[in-house]
Amino acid sequence: MHRDRLLEAYRRVRERTERLAAPLSPEDQLLQSMPSASPAKWHRAHTAWFFEEFVLAPRGVERVDARYGYLFNSYYDAVGPRHPRPSRGLLSRPTAAEVGDYRRAVDGRMEALLASLDDVALAEVAPTVLLGLAHEEQHQELLLTDIHHAFAQSPLRPVYAREPAITMAGVRSGGGWVEHPGGLVEVGHAGGGFAFDNEAPRHRAWLEPFCLSRDLVRVRDVAAFVREGGYRSPSLWLSEGFECARAQGWEAPLYATVEGDRVRAFTLHGECELEPDAPATNLSYYEADAVARFLGSRLPTEVEWEAAAQGENPDSGHQLDVTRDGVRSSLAPRAGGLASLYGTAWVWTASSYEAYPGFAPAAGAVGEYNGKFMVNQRVLRGGSMYTPRGHLRASYRNFWHPDTRFQRTGVRLARDAR
Ligand SMILES: [Fe+2]
Repeated sequence: MHRDRLLEAYRRVRERTERLAAPLSPEDQLLQSMPSASPAKWHRAHTAWFFEEFVLAPRGVERVDARYGYLFNSYYDAVGPRHPRPSRGLLSRPTAAEVGDYRRAVDGRMEALLASLDDVALAEVAPTVLLGLAHEEQHQELLLTDIHHAFAQSPLRPVYAREPAITMAGVRSGGGWVEHPGGLVEVGHAGGGFAFDNEAPRHRAWLEPFCLSRDLVRVRDVAAFVREGGYRSPSLWLSEGFECARAQGWEAPLYATVEGDRVRAFTLHGECELEPDAPATNLSYYEADAVARFLGSRLPTEVEWEAAAQGENPDSGHQLDVTRDGVRSSLAPRAGGLASLYGTAWVWTASSYEAYPGFAPAAGAVGEYNGKFMVNQRVLRGGSMYTPRGHLRASYRNFWHPDTRFQRTGVRLARDAR
């Protein structure tokens, strides 16, 4: 990759993280509302640590603060011990301002390194820099979903951003189904450009003919599920999901309350009434599966989703943009026949998160990035309104445990074609 383009990408991604954190006070940035969410300040520091650990330190660049490796290592066992994840919210030091200093110090070292390397060395380091940037983009989405969850715990209902910085606009196509003939398909990353290791190797798969719903499942569909006793109907649920819903007292998607036809939800721009035709979000896999069954359908497999997405523009749809005014979540022309194929809400697939045939994790500690999580999780596809535009691909695989609701997750229906 050309040096100037790499530096430009580095600066753009790094700046976006700081813009996303800018509306948050130092106190906001320390909040950790549950073990699986992290403080905004920790996201800012951990993404800087990633470049320090995997790009700078291997090339002999002195660390900014030798103690930060312990604080901001997330889960890489090969690089040493770490601060316990559930206690990230106890790290009042370094302060939010000191984390800003840390980020700037890492940026200075990265710029100096990238400027000093000859072309051969630059080509060697570029894949890890691109991995660090894709990693930081993942944390940008997490920063938003985590502060959303944290603010939802406050009786003051804090507002992260006023509309239209984070718009709730839905994307509708008019309903119906798109049929796919099935047959022999190829899925996985085809090479060329960045991809995570879990997207490879590209391989063949067989599909029976199937249909995907043009639209994501709507707020009105989930409201009907609630009104008609969906949360109390075991016949609609996987056993483990029904147990989970009962144990957790679920009566609606996370952040939402349903009263008749009206659905209100707490969002990043405060409490609001949801449009009945807007895509329903913040459902677990268990709920997505039950709602699909309630609607006489099923969830797509990840191969079905990818086969339908191939050839469509992954930068389309409702995703996160950086503009001159800051960061905003906005719409771009949609892809093909499926509304919200990319962006808006991640869709749960029926596929468990597993290695593709011939998968091999990357060498070294970064091999811990994806492969070691390939158990007891489900694959999600397509990105959300909080995914930075430019981050997605048809082969992109996200993954969460099936009880996860704090990510911006939704439902696309599938059916076997007759
Ligand atoms: Fe990370």
